[in-house]
Formats: sequence, C-alpha cells, structure tokens
Amino acid sequence: MNTEAATVPVEPRQPAPLARLDRAAIEAIVASGRRLLVQGGMGIHASDGLAGKVAAHRGARLVGVGTVSAVVKNADHLRREIRRARAEAPGGYVGLNLMAAVNKAEFELSARVAIEEGVSFIVQGAGISREIVKWCRAGNVPFAGIVSSGRLAAMYEKWGADFIVAEGAEAGGHIGDIGHPLPGLVDEVVAATSLPVVAAGGVDASDVARYFAAGAIGVQMASRFLACSDGDVHPNFKQMHLGKTDADITLITSCVKGMKARAVRNTFTDALARGESFPPRSKAWYFGPEGFHGRKKACVECLAAEVCLCRASQFRESFCITDALLAAAVKGDMEKGLFYTGSSITRIPELTTEELPTARALLEDLEARLALAEPSRLAAAG
Ligand SMILES: Cc1cc2nc3c(=O)[nH]c(=O)nc-3n(C[C@H](O)[C@H](O)[C@H](O)COP(=O)(O)O)c2cc1C
Repeated sequence: MNTEAATVPVEPRQPAPLARLDRAAIEAIVASGRRLLVQGGMGIHASDGLAGKVAAHRGARLVGVGTVSAVVKNADHLRREIRRARAEAPGGYVGLNLMAAVNKAEFELSARVAIEEGVSFIVQGAGISREIVKWCRAGNVPFAGIVSSGRLAAMYEKWGADFIVAEGAEAGGHIGDIGHPLPGLVDEVVAATSLPVVAAGGVDASDVARYFAAGAIGVQMASRFLACSDGDVHPNFKQMHLGKTDADITLITSCVKGMKARAVRNTFTDALARGESFPPRSKAWYFGPEGFHGRKKACVECLAAEVCLCRASQFRESFCITDALLAAAVKGDMEKGLFYTGSSITRIPELTTEELPTARALLEDLEARLALAEPSRLAAAG
C-alpha cells in the first residue's frame, strides 16, 4: 500500500471560472470574424441541462453562449445548475436569465447567487428593474437587457448595459410586443444603440446569416434547443415540438400582467381560450414538505404581487403559471401542461424522439450551414 499518497491533502479540483461576456469580449469575438450563438433561458426547468452544452461550443464561426434560468429555483438548485454548466464548459460563457416579474425576494436571491458564482452575465427579461444593473456593476458581472423596442435599448445603454437582446414577436413564452416582428426590430434596435445586439425570436438555421448581415453580432435560439436529446425537459415536451404546423401554435393571455404568450395548442390552451380559470394546486410533489422558500400554500407567490392576475383576482380568474409550466416541463402532462414555444417550432425538421440531435450536433449543423450561407465573412475578418 502506498502510505505516502494517503498523507497528501487532496483539495477538490475547482472548475475553471466562467469568462465575462462584457462588451469588450464581444467586440474581440466579432473582430475575430465569429458571432454569438446564444441559447435563450427557458423558465421552470425547460432549459435545464442545456447551458453548459451550448457554452462548450467554440467553432470557426460561432461561439456558444449558455443561459441558466432562475425561475422557481431555490438557491441550491440554482447553484447546482450554474456549477453543472461551468463544469461542462470551463472558461466558457454561461449567463443567468432573471425576470423582473418574479417575486422580489427571489429576484434578489437569484441575482446574489449568480454574482457569487461568477456567471458570465445576467440578462433581464419580462419587466424592468434598474436595481439589477447596479448590483451587476457592484459585483463586476456584465449585464444585458432583453428589449422589444429601440427606445428600451437606448435606455439600457444609458444605464450601463454590455449588450442587448432584441426579442421579436416570434419568440416563445411571453412576448414583449406582438406587433413587432424580429426583422424590423433588429433594424430599429441596431439604429438605436451602439451596444452589441443579439437577435432573438423564431430564428432558424436559415435566418442566421441574414441577421448577422443586418448588424446583429449574435442570434439567440431557445425552442430549437428544446428538441435536443440532451436537455433535461420531459420527453413529452420534446415530443410536443415535433411535426408541428401553424395550426398547432396559439397565443394565450398569461397571468403575468395579461401579456400574450406563445404556446403549443392543447386542451389546456383551448380551455384558457374559452375563459376557464385554473386556481393554484398543491406543489408539494415538486417543492417537497419545506415548500418554496418556506411557502407551502397552493400559491407559492412566484410572481411579484402586482403582476400576477391569478393572485389579484383571489384565484378566481386566469391560471397558476407555476402549476401549468411544471406540469409541462417536469410531468410532461400533454393535456394540463402549458408548453411554451417560439414560432420556429414549425421549422424543426420532422424527426422522431429517437432521432433528436444533441445540442452539440445542432451547433455543428449550424456552423456548416453558416459556412455555406456566408463563405466570405471569415476571410474578410482576416
Ligand atoms: C419554454 C420557454 C420558456 C421560456 N422562458 C423564458 C424565461 O424564463 N425568460 C425569458 O427571458 N425568456 C424566456 N423564453 C424566451 C426565450 O429565451 C427566447 O428568447 C425565445 O424563445 C427565442 O425564440 P425561439 O424560441 O423561437 O428561438 C422562453 C421560451 C420558451 C420556448
């Protein structure tokens, strides 16, 4: 027996830290002729497991960026998800998606955990909080804002953002402005700000080159990654993304401020369209006996009080978003779940669940298609 080895103190090896995705880092990537391919954060478990796989991609034309979602994660769960991505993509770019519409206490806690874990950036959607920009500056973490107008992009630039995600009406989940499709929005946002702009919403491999030509330094895709074999979302969520046409997509009125949101049509969305309401149910099956941050009632107050139509109506109108999204992403309940999706769903190739690509294979395919679409860009960058 080698006794010497037993006396050597063994420190657990720390994974390499994530890299900061600030404006200078983005400008250096662009100067090298490459662009960002961002995996959009998807709330309530939908994007869990994807961030590290996308952030591990460093191709000739695309640099992968992963995003972890903060929605209904307690501090441990959030830390686990960030650390998992960091281990899969040491030195890569992994950010946190934080929505201003969530309960203020969780908003603050998620931001604190992400800053402690040294995420590459924090990106804010669904509402606006100026606090988060200040916290990011104090924590030396780059900040990005998701916008549906040039005006908002200009405001974020004044506040000190590092980059902007211009999210068009084609996006999945909550839509900032249903009258603002992505092609026009990208032009408007690029004109309104000097910050790097990432184009999001309904983007498919065949659109990527055109958004780069329009001045975007990256594209964000979310729904397309749902139909990958190696994300954690329930297999039925993946199944719900296959072989769909325009008739399978619908816009619902969400309990979040009454915003419009895009989802796969099913018995749940049909019931919402008829005006049925769905008060909160017990979530002990998911959060366990301790509840969510100690909140054990059917309503775990996941949203800021002033934005939740379900709570504001004493649970008589609208629906519980946490129940509906957990039912879809965790239980895979195809009838009672709410399956958010982007309009790009109709362009996902006809596949069976056995044929789904890995996130890595999807990125390699994007690289290859981009090489055909814009053969001269790399040469121009030198
Ligand atoms: C299931 C699902 C959940 C989403 N959750 C969030 C979220 O929590 N926060 C957010 O800012 N955007 C969310 N989005 C929007 C995406 O991050 C992304 O910007 C958008 O869907 C891009 O369009 P695409 O899905 O057509 O690629 C979600 C989208 C989907 C499909």
